[in-house]
Amino acid sequence: MATFAGAFAASHAPLIARDWDILPAPVRARLTDAFGRTGARLAAAHADVIVEIAPDHWTNFFIDNLPSVCIGVGAEHEGPREPFMRTFPHRTLRGDPGFGNHLLETALRGGFEPSVSHRLCLDHGFCLPLWKMALDPLPAIVPLIINDLEPPMPSVARCAAWGTLLAEAIASYPHDIRIAVLASGGLSHSIGESTMGAIEEGFDRECIAAFQQGDTGALVRFLDAELSHAGNGGHEVRNWVVAHAAAGGRGFSLLDYYAVPEVYVGCAWATWEPAA
Ligand SMILES: [Fe+2]
Repeated sequence: MATFAGAFAASHAPLIARDWDILPAPVRARLTDAFGRTGARLAAAHADVIVEIAPDHWTNFFIDNLPSVCIGVGAEHEGPREPFMRTFPHRTLRGDPGFGNHLLETALRGGFEPSVSHRLCLDHGFCLPLWKMALDPLPAIVPLIINDLEPPMPSVARCAAWGTLLAEAIASYPHDIRIAVLASGGLSHSIGESTMGAIEEGFDRECIAAFQQGDTGALVRFLDAELSHAGNGGHEVRNWVVAHAAAGGRGFSLLDYYAVPEVYVGCAWATWEPAA
């Protein structure tokens, strides 16, 4: 049977890539340290497969066809098309159709009806954390896209249910491999709206405390009440809720929180490593 190798979370921001060379040196150093420490923990998990949970920033889908949840079951994914990601070291990323289809079938049997794609392009949301964590070799990636961008979105409670389902799929996969979970996105940020660039540090710190506490009900209630005050990008924390539940709903270990006005995002990094 497959083994849960741990869950991890990291923020992303286009400007971390586009403006890297002009970011102040202390900002680059702090980001490098946070991604590096998260990447070291993920590498130590020796995952064969990473189920990465991220939004699709209008790369594969648009409002004419916008799934709430999509599983990428392809053997290969296209690397990012954004110009600011052109030096990302992978033009293609290996997938894992075996586990991707098992997750899909587990979902359908369990009363979930996700969309499915055999050929996804993974944008900066997927690739920037992988890049900055410098994972080498890069495990196979099974993408789990959550609509965090355009209302109506999957409820926070449903994201927790997806995490529980993901844990069930890992536990029931009849192959001796190690599967990690990586949530990309959040915390507060505001993009292309009147509050563009705002970082809500108060929200971010309360959100982190709720994840550390590990009470799923309280976490869901907090986010239902407060997520609308975290900027439109803050909805990406739904991905973290999936990871939280996939890890059994226990509190996470915060690796760093760093509000970075230069990249418009309240950035955080965290792990839910398996119980000893
Ligand atoms: Fe994003």
